[in-house]
Amino acid sequence: MTEKDFLPGVYQKLLDNGKVTWKAPSNIALVKYWGKKPVQIPANPSISFTLDACATTTSVLFEKKDNNKALSFDLLFEGQPKDDFKPKIHTFLERVEKYVPFLKEYHFIIETSNSFPHSSGIASSASGMAALSMCLMDIERQLNPAMDDALFHAKASFLARLGSGSACRSIKSSLVQWGAHQNIPNSSDLYGVEYPFEVDSVFKSYCDTILLVHKGQKQISSTVGHQLMHGHPYAKNRFQQAFDNLDKLKSILASGNLKEFITVVESEALTLHAMMMTSMPYFMLMKPDTLEIINKIWQYREATKTPVCFTLDAGANVHLLYPEADKEKVLDFIKDELIEHCENGQYIHDRVGSGAIKINA
Ligand code: PMV
Repeated sequence: MTEKDFLPGVYQKLLDNGKVTWKAPSNIALVKYWGKKPVQIPANPSISFTLDACATTTSVLFEKKDNNKALSFDLLFEGQPKDDFKPKIHTFLERVEKYVPFLKEYHFIIETSNSFPHSSGIASSASGMAALSMCLMDIERQLNPAMDDALFHAKASFLARLGSGSACRSIKSSLVQWGAHQNIPNSSDLYGVEYPFEVDSVFKSYCDTILLVHKGQKQISSTVGHQLMHGHPYAKNRFQQAFDNLDKLKSILASGNLKEFITVVESEALTLHAMMMTSMPYFMLMKPDTLEIINKIWQYREATKTPVCFTLDAGANVHLLYPEADKEKVLDFIKDELIEHCENGQYIHDRVGSGAIKINA
């Protein structure tokens, strides 16, 4: 599908008002997206596990307005008005208005809440933008009931990408690939697609325990981090590495070769942070406890041969990835050795999920 496919025709129906609610999960990238071109086009392809427990639930109430065609909305976060979130949502709505022109016909009340604790250091932009995009597409489908499921999901992912790049991987299915790659059929820079190749059953119930190392505000936002890949001395090689890692993952995901899976995933996490440390200006988001945890994971893996590994987002928290079959052992390891490195001993158990769901009133 191309950008033109996302421009709607004339709406078939008119609605005066209504309410839709969707819950969308967060995701954790195995091959990372870091660096982009305007507008929200990734410099390299990426792939992620969709999560299950970490999610945002968003309701959108819409009410037809009179002649005022300016965008208008109220925003409630966890039941309270949240004006500091408004500029980001406003920019998003302005950006997508061309593709969902009904936006100017209605006044919206957007109510949103997260399943994970507020200020846990877990980015809510992926799940938040995905949930809001699903709501917008639900409204559009009510105005245009002939829309098929393939367009509905691709366009939801397309809209979510315009809000936050990685959000396009939080719409549908458990392993999502985003970014054009010559060896991945139907891959696109515009939206995420279900990973089209064989995936071993071990990955279908993979666990992700998120160790909350640092819950404060990041010193450098992802937006700035992506920008710093322009003119970055290692950018070209890094982007090529991501393409190559997606190729490598094909046989790894099909066979369930966990040793090789771990190598790709940990290398991707450390490369992401190496890019940050070699940007100009340089910065570092890992904390001493992030490194303590990584070292303990390596020691534990060496000693017990348990296939547990880590990955990192753009922050200090550590995602511990492991097969469901090893859950009991790994939970003991976390309690015995890792909790002491978490802020207030906090961590969140999550696992591979399957995408956004509609919540019926
Ligand atoms: O979606 P953004 O712009 O917040 O970028 C997220 C980038 C990483 O989380 C660091 C990697 C990824 O692919 O999710």
